[in-house]
Amino acid sequence: MSYYNHHVFFCVNQRAEGERQCCHNHGGSAMLDYAKQKVKALGLLDSGRVRVQKAGCFDRCEQGPLLVVYPEAVWYTFVDEEDIDEILTEHLQHDRIVERLRVADHA
Ligand code: FES
Repeated sequence: MSYYNHHVFFCVNQRAEGERQCCHNHGGSAMLDYAKQKVKALGLLDSGRVRVQKAGCFDRCEQGPLLVVYPEAVWYTFVDEEDIDEILTEHLQHDRIVERLRVADHA
């Protein structure tokens, strides 16, 4: 059993304009900040078994912005706060994978 029920990593890697696509420039950092506030508001941090944090590049940049939820190792992409809300409430609160935002394991 893993220490956290759900451990969420957001790629926040940033590259200069004209370089390879990066998650930061597609909302990764902003959505990490939003998710941290939201898990607190939802009471998900109360158990101490949920953690949301930043990560460096996953080397899947063209599929970003990306986050990954462990221990299930489910990868998601997202566009806005509504997508983050759905991931947090469906996956973290109800253990239901959000298929519409899921990124294939092997792509
Ligand atoms: S910049 Fe996010 S996966 Fe590479």
